[in-house]
Amino acid sequence: MSDESQLEARLEAQDEFEPPASFVEQANVTDEAIRERFEEEWPECWEAAAELLEWREGYDQVLDDSNPPFYEWFTGGELNASENCLDRHLADRGDEPAIEWVGEPPSEDNRTYTYAELHREVNEFAAALRDLGVEEDDVVTMYMPMIPELPVAMLACARIGAPHSVVFAGFSADALATRMESADSEYLVTANGYYRRGDPLDHFEKTRDGLDSVGHEVSDVVVVDRLGDDGFDHDRRENEHDYDALVADHEGAEVEPVARDAEDMLFLMYTSGTTGQPKGVKHTTGGYLSWVTWTSHAVLDVKPEDTYFCSADIGWITGHSYIVYGPLALGTTTMMYEGTPDYPDNDRLWEIVEDYDATQLYTAPTAIRAFMKWGEQYPEAHDLSSLRLLGTVGEPINPRAWKWYYKHVGNEECPVVDTWWQTETGGMMVTTLPGVDTMKPGSAGPPLPGVDARVVDAAGEEVNAGDAGYLTVQNPWPGMLRTLYQNDERFVQEYWAEYSDTDSDDSGDWVYFPEDGAKLDEDGYITVLGRVDDVLNVSGHRLGTMEIESAIVDVEGVAEAAVVGGDHEVKGEAVYAYVITEDGYDGGDDLRDRIVASVEDAIGPIARPESVVFTPELPKTRSGKIMRRLLEDIANGDDLGDTSTLRNPGVVDDIQAKVGGD
Ligand code: WTA
Repeated sequence: MSDESQLEARLEAQDEFEPPASFVEQANVTDEAIRERFEEEWPECWEAAAELLEWREGYDQVLDDSNPPFYEWFTGGELNASENCLDRHLADRGDEPAIEWVGEPPSEDNRTYTYAELHREVNEFAAALRDLGVEEDDVVTMYMPMIPELPVAMLACARIGAPHSVVFAGFSADALATRMESADSEYLVTANGYYRRGDPLDHFEKTRDGLDSVGHEVSDVVVVDRLGDDGFDHDRRENEHDYDALVADHEGAEVEPVARDAEDMLFLMYTSGTTGQPKGVKHTTGGYLSWVTWTSHAVLDVKPEDTYFCSADIGWITGHSYIVYGPLALGTTTMMYEGTPDYPDNDRLWEIVEDYDATQLYTAPTAIRAFMKWGEQYPEAHDLSSLRLLGTVGEPINPRAWKWYYKHVGNEECPVVDTWWQTETGGMMVTTLPGVDTMKPGSAGPPLPGVDARVVDAAGEEVNAGDAGYLTVQNPWPGMLRTLYQNDERFVQEYWAEYSDTDSDDSGDWVYFPEDGAKLDEDGYITVLGRVDDVLNVSGHRLGTMEIESAIVDVEGVAEAAVVGGDHEVKGEAVYAYVITEDGYDGGDDLRDRIVASVEDAIGPIARPESVVFTPELPKTRSGKIMRRLLEDIANGDDLGDTSTLRNPGVVDDIQAKVGGD
């Protein structure tokens, strides 16, 4: 056996990894007793998170649990998120980079914003927003690609106490309109375009389409000119302002950060749920900011002198928490990359890590699976020795991908943190502490200190070690969502009704249900299995099957549709659509194209079906419910077991034949 294959064989067989000693020596958190300590001191343990921030007014109470599940944290406290991410670092780190931005075109003049520069531009843009009429508590929507003006706009809003609602730039015009309407948002910050795989992309036309279908009046739109000479021609309307001109008009302006109550809303983020309507997750200033700052410190091991790189898009929660708020609150250098990891070649991320001496890399399993497919020659062609820690988020990571990441990117010298959390939790919840815990590829790890995550059965009883069940969180935490925007009832229904005694006002009777399945390992680690509701996880993006189905049944000629997730080597899950046509329509390429276009219009290209299967019937139970499990098994080519209880068992062979022949 060659040395190389011996190494592979050893890694293959190994299922536990100790944190590398060189990492532990310098780690932010190394206290092995931290879990016991936090349990004993709960909820006061969370003062440790609040202490990482600067408060205008100290809080009176760590946790107010008098009205569950409407918990309040750090009540009476006042602070400003923009001040915490900028002003307080000026004295020591004013000339250090806050943001290192890398554009997609390799010829780009990449930009560095020092803390002083970022502070200045945030002040100027905050002054401009105020001049446009934005007041405290007005929701400002952002529909922007990965350009520095996005965090500038977020922090400018935070400065004046206007919550932001960032809509992922890859979402469709319709998705933008729905979110602006749901949030009653009258202001929008957007961009004329961005680069994708070398080509300029017209983002403004899509923005216009969205704006034209918003049901209320939008008072002002600010447009960042990202494309310069590559820009597309559009007439400007009177309420559409040029970002650079606005900032120039407010040159040197200073805006005093507004003292926000700890429980005041910092932002809204829309995410997919079981119904067709996206949910507006509300996060607050004190609890959220403490949570993302503490977890960046304890799990990502962020230090001010680091160059920390998270490859997510700020349009998702990962980018909010772990590109913008957590890292900047700690005064570190955070990287932003505009484009895709395969442009101009498959080593783009490794080139960025090498050029900037990145110290952490936080990415998604779907990206790691793509890197694996492309081959280890890409990371191996670069000096990645600046890396100290690796992280993953968004979906389960299979042990093979974990080990590939650990070996070929981390050179077996970096701990890997597999962090389970969701939009609603604000930040990480279940993960190993990199300076303390043994790592087990495939298993996220124990709950964080102070987090009471448990795997339960359908009756809410904790399962035995080795068994699978449902993941729950049995005590509140500072970063938790406070409600769904203007919909307290849906908030209780969606997250709390399943396992709580909803008549009780005793906090101990309330249990948060994230709608994930999980296995409790023998040693208490949690292996997250995936969503148990009708939500798909495609390349780490959450998509509601109902949203996709309703876009499909909107198409002329479609009678009924069922959407499920099928296994996919790189994406984790892929969208499979089973469609019944109306009489007189045949399921051909034309209809298939119209279905795909409708899904892209309603949601965006990320939701594009991998496969559209036309079928005369869908498998249904005797009571008429569509058997989605069966459709999933068909998509995956799995054994279907007993189908005789179906109302229409004959349909299964038909569908199987079609999928097989696809
Ligand atoms: C899934 C992304 C397994 C899970 C931060 C969750 C994971 C959903 C992991 C949230 C992980 C996230 N292991 N599954 N480490 N991290 N998930 O709201 O199903 O976009 O409910 O937040 O992603 O997706 P969201």
